[in-house]
Amino acid sequence: MSSLVDKFPRVVDMVNLAKRRMPHFASEYLFAGTGYDEALDNNRKAFKQIYLVPKYLKGTVNPNLKTKLFGNEYDSPFGVAPVGMTSLMWPGAEIALAKMSLKNNIPYSLSTVACASVEEVGKHLDGHGWFQLYPPADKAIRNDLLKRAKNSGFKTLIITADIPASSRRERLRMAGVSVPPKNNLRTFFQAAICPSWSLGTLINGIPAFGTMDQYSDGTWHGNAKSKAGFAGSQMQRYLDWDYLQEVRDIWKGPIILKGLMHVDDAVKATSYVDAIYLSNHGGRQIDIAPSPLQILPLVRKKVGSKFPIIIDSGFYSGQDISKGLMLGADFVMTGRPFIIGLAALGKKGANHVHDILKDELSNIMEQICTKDIEELKSENVMLGNDFNIQNFS
Ligand SMILES: Cc1cc2nc3c(=O)[nH]c(=O)nc-3n(C[C@H](O)[C@H](O)[C@H](O)COP(=O)(O)O)c2cc1C
Repeated sequence: MSSLVDKFPRVVDMVNLAKRRMPHFASEYLFAGTGYDEALDNNRKAFKQIYLVPKYLKGTVNPNLKTKLFGNEYDSPFGVAPVGMTSLMWPGAEIALAKMSLKNNIPYSLSTVACASVEEVGKHLDGHGWFQLYPPADKAIRNDLLKRAKNSGFKTLIITADIPASSRRERLRMAGVSVPPKNNLRTFFQAAICPSWSLGTLINGIPAFGTMDQYSDGTWHGNAKSKAGFAGSQMQRYLDWDYLQEVRDIWKGPIILKGLMHVDDAVKATSYVDAIYLSNHGGRQIDIAPSPLQILPLVRKKVGSKFPIIIDSGFYSGQDISKGLMLGADFVMTGRPFIIGLAALGKKGANHVHDILKDELSNIMEQICTKDIEELKSENVMLGNDFNIQNFS
């Protein structure tokens, strides 16, 4: 019998199986971008313009992938990006991913709008989790969320900056995505042909906003739309530098500012937070935004060589991760790939995605005889024309 790695040697080899095992609305929620999916497509295209020119004759090395961030040593320079409504896409996803991350010593980020609550997930992370905050309009809710995250053992905070307004998410509208899933004939049939998802949902419970639901006000009468509306209304339009400073004054651990794209924001952020996280939200927010990879070299130049930069959006392989690191990132996060693994193969699939990413990255490092991540980051890369945007600011 062939092994998992023979059947699915790359993350992309699991995509079709994952799609078949997810109801259409869940799969669209995972895979869609926004608008015309131009940013989504460009996130992948940008990688094709980055080349490594290898240097040889350096002897044999055993690559060491360990990476330090905020004083923690992780086994690999990548982790799980925050993904909302995770259990809508695969039942029990939050806890499965938290356990996988702890086992492999990589960071797991829990979204404010995940289905499992911060308290439930915190139990499985042994103090290693990153909590992602969509900045609530109501500061009492914000402060309570920060307190709950801290009490649940989360030490690192991600604040997401790139949702001043919802994007149109046309594919999600057409697929009828909602939390909990709409209970109509169409969604019923979509779920009925996906028995593993349906059984998992029966066991795990109908997806809800595990952390946020308790803040729905007394006017909520069990109407799903108003719950989602409440979560949405709390999450938008309220972040500015003063708000960020208030969070800085409250949260004692490291803070990462996620969703930055412009070099001016990145430079300003260095006086407020401990790391900047370049991202275009996996192509889900602004369809005419470049890939964060395209702005990474300039941002690295402007913030200096020491300030931590994290990046995501379109990283599906170890070779993608190596390109992000060589262009100046210290750490790479990835959203869809881990869910793809879960949906395709269940819990072992999330672990398989981890193993693929690690093995691919390690193989590249071995091929070019780089002993550690620092050495990999110093490799020279050749860039194609799409990276010639030095004068955009
Ligand atoms: C289904 C889905 C839900 C997401 N939910 C959140 C979220 O709740 N908070 C957040 O900061 N980012 C969210 N993101 C963005 C991810 O954190 C990350 O930036 C993006 O997935 C990276 O692109 P990738 O999926 O190509 O790796 C979401 C992304 C996806 C695909």
